[in-house]
Amino acid sequence: MKKTFTRVAIFPLCIVLLSGLIFPWLQVNLGAQPMEDVAKFDKDGKLLLPSDYRTWVFVGASVTPNEMNGGKAPFPEFHTIYMEPASYKPFKNTGEFPEGTVMVKETLMIGGKEAPSGKGYFMGDFVLLATGVKDTKRFGGERAGWGFFAFGNPSNPQSKSEVLPVAKCNNCHSAAAQERVFIQYYPVLRDLKKK
Ligand code: HEC
Repeated sequence: MKKTFTRVAIFPLCIVLLSGLIFPWLQVNLGAQPMEDVAKFDKDGKLLLPSDYRTWVFVGASVTPNEMNGGKAPFPEFHTIYMEPASYKPFKNTGEFPEGTVMVKETLMIGGKEAPSGKGYFMGDFVLLATGVKDTKRFGGERAGWGFFAFGNPSNPQSKSEVLPVAKCNNCHSAAAQERVFIQYYPVLRDLKKK
């Protein structure tokens, strides 16, 4: 009698324990969970400033110095790119950008050309905070699923941004290697695609 009771009690206990282990594993590894919306819009469709993006995944950086661009680079001069972690995980598993992906680019001026580490380009003041959001319902048609936004200077950013005109952002981004994201310049994402 005692034995039967123990068996009866252990079986559901095992199920509970296993589901506690398996479901989180599935969520983390297969990206099965519905993603929390990182991109938040107000009622007029303006994107709210993404919070805490400097804690996101750093995926790459470029330098387009003014001095190599006729005195004025289109985006002066350092660019640092971040991807939010809720999209990074599914991208790692599938190589695709999930719905809701948010990318951030900060630009900075060159601050100096010499440091104890040698001659080169060293970061100066912040210039611009730019954002790209994948939302195929909101940004269909010629935007091809991506909306682009700018929040001014990252040191003192605007609280929201309307979606910017296709001619200002999306058109040039059609040269990107994957959808509207220039992964060809982001070694961290390139590496994931090789695996
Ligand atoms: C003349 C071409 C060009 C224009 C116009 C342009 N971009 Fe980009 N953008 C790039 C390139 C190239 C990169 C990647 C490498 C780099 O940082 O220079 C990039 C990267 C980005 C990224 C990082 C994620 C990604 O998609 O690769 C964001 C966010 C971004 N741009 C936002 C914007 C916004 C907002 C606008 C409109 C104000 C804009 N861009 C206009 C060329 C352009």
